[in-house]
Amino acid sequence: MQSTKDKSLFAKFFPTPKFLTIPAVGIDISDNSIHLIEFADKHGRKTLKKFGKYPIPDGVIIKGEIKKIKELTDILKKIKKDNNINFVRASLPEEKAYLFQTQIPGDVTDENIRSILEFKLEEYVPLSPSSAIFDYNILPNQKDSDLLNVVVAVYPKNTIEKYTVVFEDAGMTLLSLEIEAQAIKRTVVKEGDTGTYMIVDFGKTKTGLSIVSNNVLSFTSTLEVEEERLTNTIVKHLKVSEAEADRVKNEEGLIKTRNNKELFRELMNTAESFKDDINKHYRYWQTRVDEKGNRVDAIEKIIICGGNSNLAGLPEFLSSSLKVKVERANVWANVFLFNDFVPEIDSFNSLSYATAIGLALRNIT
Ligand SMILES: Nc1ncnc2c1ncn2[C@@H]1O[C@H](COP(=O)(O)OP(=O)(O)OP(=O)(O)O)[C@@H](O)[C@H]1O
Ligand SMILES: [Mg+2]
Repeated sequence: MQSTKDKSLFAKFFPTPKFLTIPAVGIDISDNSIHLIEFADKHGRKTLKKFGKYPIPDGVIIKGEIKKIKELTDILKKIKKDNNINFVRASLPEEKAYLFQTQIPGDVTDENIRSILEFKLEEYVPLSPSSAIFDYNILPNQKDSDLLNVVVAVYPKNTIEKYTVVFEDAGMTLLSLEIEAQAIKRTVVKEGDTGTYMIVDFGKTKTGLSIVSNNVLSFTSTLEVEEERLTNTIVKHLKVSEAEADRVKNEEGLIKTRNNKELFRELMNTAESFKDDINKHYRYWQTRVDEKGNRVDAIEKIIICGGNSNLAGLPEFLSSSLKVKVERANVWANVFLFNDFVPEIDSFNSLSYATAIGLALRNIT
């Protein structure tokens, strides 16, 4: 039976065993930026070998869909040249992913799982089997069941093909592709931790929400709130640059002072919209039952990451309104185990690297 460890999503594209242990650079492509990370192993300990952030102009990628292949390829070529990159592991935008849970007979053979799932695809996703690429994870701890719970991740074939083409055209060897939230999970959930967590990635253009239970990515969604509202509010209100707006977000944020009343109110409005969106998913999960009528494991904690999770006061605000523990991720938790290495990326910036770190951490698929 297939292992329940992280496995290669879309393995079909990357079946070559000799690639499994090759060190690779994690490349996280967002609509407006690319983050990259590479680790090196020194005497069994990891060190940060490369990192970087490159901007992507508006319109090249829109909501995860590559619109201008040539422009993106050129950016990747530059990244390859600047950093001398060959092997990469990249992420796919969760806006384009369909994730669903289903059951398969417990005695099914490995070879048959794919065909059974293929048969079920149309029931769950608006794609025909011929235009979809999928992979799956069997949930752990169900040895004696007649039926096995499986989480299936599906992408339009066309989306995956474009991602493979840009790397190929840029002269890089793509070792794996996986859903963004899967990479983030590898970064922010401590290895071996089987708890149930909601993870919220507050990026520049979007907010990704996922739920991880028993080390399996079980749910993903992209929130509706317009992410850039926070920055735009500050830029408009204080007439400052975006860089200065970051400082205001990170230092003042949701903390009320004597002279920021109006700005505070506007930022609070945006934070309230985030909270309402998160709350919907949180409440829904907390009341879910499995096929036997038992409550699914409750969310113990919300872990936040992404550049905008730096917003001062955000964990406290979410925690007090949702009545659940909320904390910023320690993105190095699975990397530098002994506190003996101080990475060059400061803690504010590090939260933007959660996806790239998870990709770079993936050594065996
Ligand atoms: N110290 C910081 N470094 C980087 N970004 C920061 C920092 N503090 C706040 N931010 C904000 O975080 C956002 C960038 O976050 P992040 O790098 O996670 O986004 P992204 O991955 O490029 O985009 P997305 O995931 O939304 O497509 C920007 O809106 C920026 O204003
Ligand atoms: Mg991002």
